[in-house]
Amino acid sequence: MNARDRNSASISISPIAPVEAKIVANLFGEIFPEPWSETSIQQLLKHDGTVALAAARPGNAAPAGFAIFRLAADEAEILSLGVTPPNRRRGVGQALVGAVLASASAHGCARIFLEVAEDNLAARNLYQCMGYQPSGLRSGYYRRGRRPAIDAIILSCDLEATGVDSI
Ligand SMILES: CC(C)(COP(=O)(O)OP(=O)(O)OC[C@H]1O[C@@H](n2cnc3c(N)ncnc32)[C@H](O)[C@@H]1OP(=O)(O)O)[C@@H](O)C(=O)NCCC(=O)NCCS
Repeated sequence: MNARDRNSASISISPIAPVEAKIVANLFGEIFPEPWSETSIQQLLKHDGTVALAAARPGNAAPAGFAIFRLAADEAEILSLGVTPPNRRRGVGQALVGAVLASASAHGCARIFLEVAEDNLAARNLYQCMGYQPSGLRSGYYRRGRRPAIDAIILSCDLEATGVDSI
């Protein structure tokens, strides 16, 4: 992997409109075990304050990942974010989290938060390196078939303290 591959600044980020919900549905199917339908994503994106972004790596128009987040008053919440397996560890996740932070900051949000499964070390490390800190816990929040339920860690980021540039 060369330095350019790892440079999240070279990753392009673009908004996804509700009519393009299929892009997110396809990415979702590649990334998560339980799919989200195109219709449900389209409905979600029609809500005021809900934003979806796609990320693409240099020289590759196909989206490598997505983020969906909600802006409400002075808070933002990341609802879902993921990168397709072949594009991981190349800075795409960092670029998406950075774009969400910048957008939330531009909308005047003071704080951004999300829930992550306690055993999702990749995501926890990603958010930690982007300035998020644990701020709560939902016990047994994720239920996966017959396996023991997993706690959700609530992570939050104080945008003023982080000094994020708005976009
Ligand atoms: C979590 C996820 C979004 C990370 O995306 P990514 O594009 O691979 O992340 P980046 O390349 O920007 O990595 C940034 C940092 O995050 C951490 N990280 C990412 N993947 C990691 C892994 N598998 N193990 C440990 N740390 C990891 C590292 O600190 C990494 O920096 P480094 O590569 O210099 O060590 C991706 O693994 C994913 O889509 N997972 C499945 C969906 C998911 O869990 N979504 C989050 C739900 S809240």
